[in-house]
Amino acid sequence: MATGSRLVELAATAAGCTRCPLAATRTQVVFGTGDPDADLMFVGEAPGREEDLQGVPFVGRSGQLLDRLLVEELGLGRHQVYIANVVKCRPPDNRDPRPEEITACRPYLEEQVSLIAPKVVVTLGNFATRLLLDTDQGITKLRGAAYPVGDVQLVPTFHPAAALRGGGVVLAQMRADLVRAKQLIGLAS
Ligand code: URA
Repeated sequence: MATGSRLVELAATAAGCTRCPLAATRTQVVFGTGDPDADLMFVGEAPGREEDLQGVPFVGRSGQLLDRLLVEELGLGRHQVYIANVVKCRPPDNRDPRPEEITACRPYLEEQVSLIAPKVVVTLGNFATRLLLDTDQGITKLRGAAYPVGDVQLVPTFHPAAALRGGGVVLAQMRADLVRAKQLIGLAS
């Protein structure tokens, strides 16, 4: 079966998920969006209010910044990459996802990465980076490099919300990380 169809099946399973208490408070599951055959995948933290309402990851302010950086640094639209989150349901009041929620949701993300088989995964912020690199170190220390994890190169960078809060320096570092990702997927820079 083609990757797209297997992702659609997985999304259908996830849509009815009750593996953790976030099922009770979500509007809908925010599974992921983009090209099932993408070379480049982004992993954020968790859906926020807009994402919960629309069912699509990164459609709020953070998403608008991500879209802009994608175009400016990679010349790509969001339909040319794949975008997902560590947890697929919105934590109430945008609180941090809890360890048990991350553990419950982890198999969906792992299956997404395995089906899409991207060359590069850009992790946005601490939650995605710590989960996929299996570390408790922080993003400030880890960013600025690429890490091989199985067949994938993992490029940690800040969450766009951190750039919205932190301003120019954080944004410049995010841009540099995206250029690193671009080189790794073999797009001319
Ligand atoms: N922040 C995230 O981490 N993911 C989203 O989908 C939106 C905001």
